Amino acid sequence: MRIALFGPPGAGKGTQAQRIVEHYGVTHISTGNLLRSAVKNDTALGREAKPYMVSGQLVPSDLVRRLAEEAIEQLGFDRFVLDGYPRTLEQAQWLSDFLAQHDAPLEAVLSIDVTDDEVVRRLSRRRIHRETNETYHLDFNPPPPDVPESDLIQRKDDQPETIRKRLTVYTEETQPVQAYYEEQGAAVDIAGTGSVDEVFERVQAALDPYKQDASIA
Ligand code: AP5
Repeated sequence: MRIALFGPPGAGKGTQAQRIVEHYGVTHISTGNLLRSAVKNDTALGREAKPYMVSGQLVPSDLVRRLAEEAIEQLGFDRFVLDGYPRTLEQAQWLSDFLAQHDAPLEAVLSIDVTDDEVVRRLSRRRIHRETNETYHLDFNPPPPDVPESDLIQRKDDQPETIRKRLTVYTEETQPVQAYYEEQGAAVDIAGTGSVDEVFERVQAALDPYKQDASIA
């Protein structure tokens, strides 16, 4: 199963990726998580990426490409769900070429659609557990009562001005990628409104045809 999730910041890509991992037994490859981990560990790549991330811009593609390709390679070119990559036409072309060399094209690119107002609602109240990286929303998906508030952090790029910048970057640089996959017949539109469970039902309807091992689900 080779899947990519596509959609604006805050559409619920990470949330749905987690469900996909649990249900289909694939591995989540999130370039955002890989980059945040590099920043946290103060690696050379993390130091280079940080200013772009905190200001809501895309990290230069050559840095992200290495992260994504290494992760896919480690998984033997199968059983992964990509989240946040590709994000430009250049990245999409690189990914297609890389996967074609290993006869392992993407099977489906799920495009999760939500309005800008919903993005702001979701991101402004998102909180992340500092140890487990679990994602919550203070209203829609609140943390369990035994999780102290001091364990929850707000991402630096979830400030209103940076959210607006990320939305602009998405429209200008990332949205054209959708047409690229539509032309290849791999794009599947998923309405991102409704509860996490409701969205996952739509995701399942799109992904079940690609299920390789019925015993997993
Ligand atoms: P990245 O981490 O990929 O961020 P993003 O794409 O902006 O997406 P988010 O993680 O913010 O949102 P999401 O769609 O995963 O939503 P979530 O599930 O958390 O990238 C961060 C940065 O890294 C980029 O800005 C860039 O600088 C850099 N980067 C990464 N990849 C790159 C690349 N390929 N090239 C260049 N630079 C790159 O949900 C959001 C909130 O909503 C949560 O609180 C959740 O609980 C809640 N929620 C989810 N679903 C629902 C629902 N159905 N109803 C109500 N609430 C919901």
